[in-house]
Amino acid sequence: SLKFAVIGGGSSYTPELIEGILNRKDHLPVRELVLVDVPMGAEKVSIIEAMARRMAEKAGADIKIYATMDRRAAIKGADFVITQFRVGGLDARAKDEAIPLKYDVIGQETTGPGGYAKALRTVPVILDICRDIEELSPDAWLINFTNPSGIVTEAILNYTHVKALGLCNVPIGAKKNIAKALDVDFNRVQASFMGLNHMNYIYSATLDGEEILPQLIDMFENPPESTRPYLEDMTDIIWPMPFLRSLGMLTSPYHRYYYRNRMMLQQEKDDMAKNGSRAMQVKAIEKELFEKYKDPNLCVKPKELEQRGGAYYSEAAISLIDAIYGNRNEIHTVNLQNHGTISNLPYNAVIEANAIIGAGGATPLAIGEMPTRVAGLVNEVKAYEQLAVRAAVEKSYDIALAAMLANPFINDYEVGKAILDELIEAHSPYLDYL
Ligand code: NAD
Ligand code: G6P
Ligand code: MN
Repeated sequence: SLKFAVIGGGSSYTPELIEGILNRKDHLPVRELVLVDVPMGAEKVSIIEAMARRMAEKAGADIKIYATMDRRAAIKGADFVITQFRVGGLDARAKDEAIPLKYDVIGQETTGPGGYAKALRTVPVILDICRDIEELSPDAWLINFTNPSGIVTEAILNYTHVKALGLCNVPIGAKKNIAKALDVDFNRVQASFMGLNHMNYIYSATLDGEEILPQLIDMFENPPESTRPYLEDMTDIIWPMPFLRSLGMLTSPYHRYYYRNRMMLQQEKDDMAKNGSRAMQVKAIEKELFEKYKDPNLCVKPKELEQRGGAYYSEAAISLIDAIYGNRNEIHTVNLQNHGTISNLPYNAVIEANAIIGAGGATPLAIGEMPTRVAGLVNEVKAYEQLAVRAAVEKSYDIALAAMLANPFINDYEVGKAILDELIEAHSPYLDYL
């Protein structure tokens, strides 16, 4: 039987995870589920604990579920450790989103200087967690969802011995949207991803094994109302032509920050003035969600959770765990070490790609060379990500500045340094180490 430790157990996404576990209770024998949090999340995690127990009871599942602040005890004996925490909470996210905007730079949770500050807060914590796993449960699998997921996984796989995979809900969401746009069953669709987390390109998509990427790209030109919402959800933008044809691939929702930078900057400023930052909006959604979770009669995941961006998180995470535990040799899209999968990216770089998942872990499917039209940008972002990890590991301000200047959103030394200094100041004590 299995023990799961969920770090960041107070997340509003946890009921989604519980649902994924309960859906597989016949072949994934989870007997112990520990929800780990920190004092800041004490109230949230106790609400989640009660909600999770009700969900398990209703499903007739015999799982010992409990919350704790004792991370080491939770990790000890765990078979799977799932990380989904937010260092500094939504208040820190609000600063990540607001500070770069003051300098006319995109302020975003996972990309640009905002995502960078989140990485600098998070990498020291994930490395501590990994030290605990190495000592207490060296055979455990770590499934990381904590953002920026690609950078966090880069730190884990290059600086620890923990067996780990990084996860994002974007790839599975894209496949769902392709199936919906084509109005076909999800299982008939396959999509191949190449690149990094929040910077992956779909370079092939098939329906019943037949290549359909060119048709999908063409669909973006005046899509009918029946398909438009799915295309929009897949990339968060209806790309104009001839952009997509010139790219020859489909994008993630995050590419609009790179290829439509000015438009997105204006959109962010307008949105900030009208509705406040996304962190503030998420606070309101969360408040409503936790009111629901408190209801002693609620024992299923409420619909309101769909207002959050992490749709299909549990499906991605628990089906991945199921593929490892059940040695299913299925294809999943994960963050893992390149090791030659993409020939024109560093060997040790963490990439996001399709891999065969079984009991031994992940075997990436060979990709070869990234096309010239994207290779420069992807390498630039990867260089920034590797420098970001090094800055946190070596606790070096100079490397932190180098990472900021390597980020494609920053093209000016004065601006990059000013944003970095303001972020370090705003995020004290998390970034005092720089
Ligand atoms: P949240 O603000 O609800 O945080 C989750 C919990 O983490 C909170 O209860 C908080 O108290 C706790 N926490 C903070 N620091 C901690 C620490 N050091 N140790 C243990 N717990 C700690 O966040 P959320 O909106 O539920 O998101 C959780 C994480 O998942 C974030 O990092 C977010 O960016 C990420 N996320 C990733 C994806 C993806 O595609 N990979 C999708 C959605 C969310
Ligand atoms: C998507 C991304 C996540 C990101 C989330 C933001 O799901 O894959 O990495 O964290 O959106 O959603 P939120 O509701 O927090 O804005
Ligand atoms: Mn993601």
